[in-house]
Amino acid sequence: MLSPRLQTFMALHRAGKFAEAEAGYRDCRRAGIDVVIPLSALLLQQGRNAEAIVELEPVVAAQPENFAAVVNLSIALRQQGEAERALEYARRACELRPGEASACNARGLAALALDENEEALAALDAGLKSAPGNVPLELHRAKALRNLGRLRDALAAFERIVKVDPGMLEAWRDLGVVQARLGMVGPALASATQARNLAPADSEVLLEYAVALLRAGRTAEAEQFLERGGGNGGAWLMFGQALLREGNVQGARKALERAHALEPDSPYVRHFRAALSGELPEGIESDYIRGLFDDFADRFESTLVNNLGYGVPKRLPRFLAEQGVETFTDILDLGCGTGLMGAELAGAGRRIDGVDLSGRMLAVAREKDVYRELHEGEVLAFLQTAPQQWDLIVAADVFIYIRALEPIFAAAWQRLRPGGHFVFSIERSEGAETQLIAETGRYRHHVQALRAALEQAGFTGICLEDLVIRKESGHPVAGSLLLAQRPLKQA
Ligand SMILES: C[S@@+](CC[C@H](N)C(=O)[O-])C[C@H]1O[C@@H](n2cnc3c(N)ncnc32)[C@H](O)[C@@H]1O
Repeated sequence: MLSPRLQTFMALHRAGKFAEAEAGYRDCRRAGIDVVIPLSALLLQQGRNAEAIVELEPVVAAQPENFAAVVNLSIALRQQGEAERALEYARRACELRPGEASACNARGLAALALDENEEALAALDAGLKSAPGNVPLELHRAKALRNLGRLRDALAAFERIVKVDPGMLEAWRDLGVVQARLGMVGPALASATQARNLAPADSEVLLEYAVALLRAGRTAEAEQFLERGGGNGGAWLMFGQALLREGNVQGARKALERAHALEPDSPYVRHFRAALSGELPEGIESDYIRGLFDDFADRFESTLVNNLGYGVPKRLPRFLAEQGVETFTDILDLGCGTGLMGAELAGAGRRIDGVDLSGRMLAVAREKDVYRELHEGEVLAFLQTAPQQWDLIVAADVFIYIRALEPIFAAAWQRLRPGGHFVFSIERSEGAETQLIAETGRYRHHVQALRAALEQAGFTGICLEDLVIRKESGHPVAGSLLLAQRPLKQA
């Protein structure tokens, strides 16, 4: 039974009169009344985490089964940045009262902070069983789903939350991020607009709104929100790219310089500045490629195949058959991505290995269950160190991200069995040499130069077919398939 005196101060606390409530709690304590739970809750509400920890730690040490103190200590520790200890206490709270919403929420939050998303999801699901519809539990569960890459489930969860509580800024922001990752440009802009209406002066929200406008192609409107949001390297880069697509090279240069000033080490900014300046980057830009495709993995197939008419994986096996290349068993898929190429080449008795820089692309490929082995790594390094050989090496839409192909040709030759074939697609440069296209950040290679390089590496029987490899802003992108053989006997 709570003392009437304590109840008076708890009422003040609930009414938001924190200073009076705190003074009252401290008076009660002097009178011998136990106030640790309401006092620590008040301190937590005010972000005074270190003080809350000082209050709670001795209580939890003396009474390890004091459920409310254990939960509050977990919250205080997490808010203080001590997520591992927070998770320990949250687990203890869950043991004391399995399924209790506050314990499950504390465990979910601590696990989220440690990127232990499976544990977070399990805890939050357990909490929702005893407290169905509890909004904080729902919100944190949606975040766990998002972190686990279960974007469709996360989308449905965030949508439910904003329906129940349309004033919840955090849920609108998260919803917008998930929609953008799923390529839902219009809905993502609608969510960013809701967030902006709820927090019109919040610079992060304004920046997110600017990015959503850019994604929706509303470049001119985006600029003022980029300015007001303070911008970041990625957002200014996006703005620059949008200007470039509109033919505004000067504006694009300025935007890229702002991006560079804000994030001088960004591999994206470096890549596109090089593309604009015409100075082609040296070596393979692994960080840029990995970041690009980790970010793109969730919507790669829907975007490439459904929206951009990407046709290389379907066309390439037919091209091989037309050239009489049909008997191969061991295949290496360079830059295998989500496995579109592997799925087309799979067949009885064939063993396909894949290598790719992007862990998230590989995660999608793994689900297709067509690869014998999948390696996370860079293709040139992989070819130079792999111990085995293959009958066929394939690279579909990969060399558009690599400038210098000569070392790859030499390494691929080594990794093919005598008589084996190497087949790949390129974007075709109509000029005399390799070009880095500023609008797309992709390379176009010159077919004759590649022929010469293949011959130089020892390949013979080179043949090619021109094709449209995909569309870009509605226009066909000219490409070629090249096929070459490692001769059965060395000349
Ligand atoms: C456009 S996707 C094509 C994926 C797949 N080959 C297909 O046809 O669907 C390009 C892939 O190549 C990978 N990639 C590009 N350069 C790479 C490199 N140097 N090493 C490893 N992977 C690379 C990217 O991570 C990405 O997954």
